[in-house]
Amino acid sequence: MMGDHPVLMGEHALAHLDLWLAEHARGAQRFVLGDENTLDQCLPELLAHVPGLRQAKTIQVRSGEDSKDLEVCRALWAHLAGHAADRSTLLVNLGGGVVTDLGGFVAATYKRGIRFIHVPTTVMGMVDAAIGGKSAIDLNGVKNLVGVFADPEGTYVHPPFLRTLGKREVLNGVAEMVKHGLVRDAAHWNEVRRAPLHDLDALAPLIMRSSAIKAEVVMEDPREAGPRKLLNFGHSIGHGLEAFALESQQRSLLHGEAVAIGMVCATWLSWRTGLLDRDRMNAVEEHLMGLFPRFKLQESDSHRIIELMRNDKKNVGDEFRFTLLTGIGSARVDVPINAAQVAEALEHYRLLTPDAHLRHHPQT
Ligand SMILES: NC(=O)c1ccc[n+]([C@@H]2O[C@H](COP(=O)([O-])OP(=O)(O)OC[C@H]3O[C@@H](n4cnc5c(N)ncnc54)[C@H](O)[C@@H]3O)[C@@H](O)[C@H]2O)c1
Ligand SMILES: [Zn+2]
Repeated sequence: MMGDHPVLMGEHALAHLDLWLAEHARGAQRFVLGDENTLDQCLPELLAHVPGLRQAKTIQVRSGEDSKDLEVCRALWAHLAGHAADRSTLLVNLGGGVVTDLGGFVAATYKRGIRFIHVPTTVMGMVDAAIGGKSAIDLNGVKNLVGVFADPEGTYVHPPFLRTLGKREVLNGVAEMVKHGLVRDAAHWNEVRRAPLHDLDALAPLIMRSSAIKAEVVMEDPREAGPRKLLNFGHSIGHGLEAFALESQQRSLLHGEAVAIGMVCATWLSWRTGLLDRDRMNAVEEHLMGLFPRFKLQESDSHRIIELMRNDKKNVGDEFRFTLLTGIGSARVDVPINAAQVAEALEHYRLLTPDAHLRHHPQT
């Protein structure tokens, strides 16, 4: 079934990968794809736990979103062909969402598809990008424009890889964990809310729960016909903001940071449309505003942000379809929201200075 791939997590995940290789990839040519950071910081640990990959050839791409590019794919396809990779070949993607998206897409298309494995090394990868069987590259500045649904043979989540990941990158992924809790699991939201995020030992079990939530939702709806849209919470406005930050050369905004702002706006819209009560709205807002630095917006920016949202493949016509909260841990998909409401939500965010915020909603 689509979207239905094993996700192995925790202490023995990599040992399972080694067993899997011995059982299912005997004699197969093996490649490990990574970027300069993951090959430097994570490959030694991977090889220490997975002897079956010690003979594998490594392929390095440059770190960063720019590598999710057709020219990079061309080079990778040519590289595989140059090494006489055949249909039995296995590609192991070791990295964040850039590497797993790129590697998944290249593997799924080379010779109509060779097998691949994801070994995520960022929080974003572990709880989101490496789970669910979607992979895509960017084209003409449009993110994820060209891609496929294709499942890895497995995703192996080994939290110790995160030891070398920067704080900003950790928080970036935490935004998606907050999202998973808010749309699906109130207990998870509470745990993530209280977790000391700098403490990897405390974070690791939460990452595993968050990965499991994503896997569950995807299993119910691999092709995104319904329930999977829950995962779009915060993403309509989030994607608009991401694109806006890119073209306005403002301080760069990571995906998770943009989604966090999108969640503040969507939570406010949930309250505004009567789906969520004010106390819950305040609690979500307070948490998100405390987690991420504020992104400065002008009142006039909403026009362009809304224009950019219209380009998003998830929106139809003049109305936007939002995933909104109906409580903590539950959400409704496909709620129609118009441009004026989006502008109001952005204005709400814009006026939320950290100080004003504390004044209006004192911490209890
Ligand atoms: N397919 C999906 O369902 C899906 C879901 C969410 C996000 N994504 C995609 O994921 C991408 C973002 O992924 P990301 O946030 O993981 O970014 P990323 O892959 O760019 O990684 C972030 C940075 O951290 C470095 N890095 C990775 N692991 C490290 C480690 N353990 N130690 C030190 N440095 C490390 C990388 O080299 C990079 O510089 C986007 O392109 C997004 O579209 C895809
Ligand atoms: Zn996201």
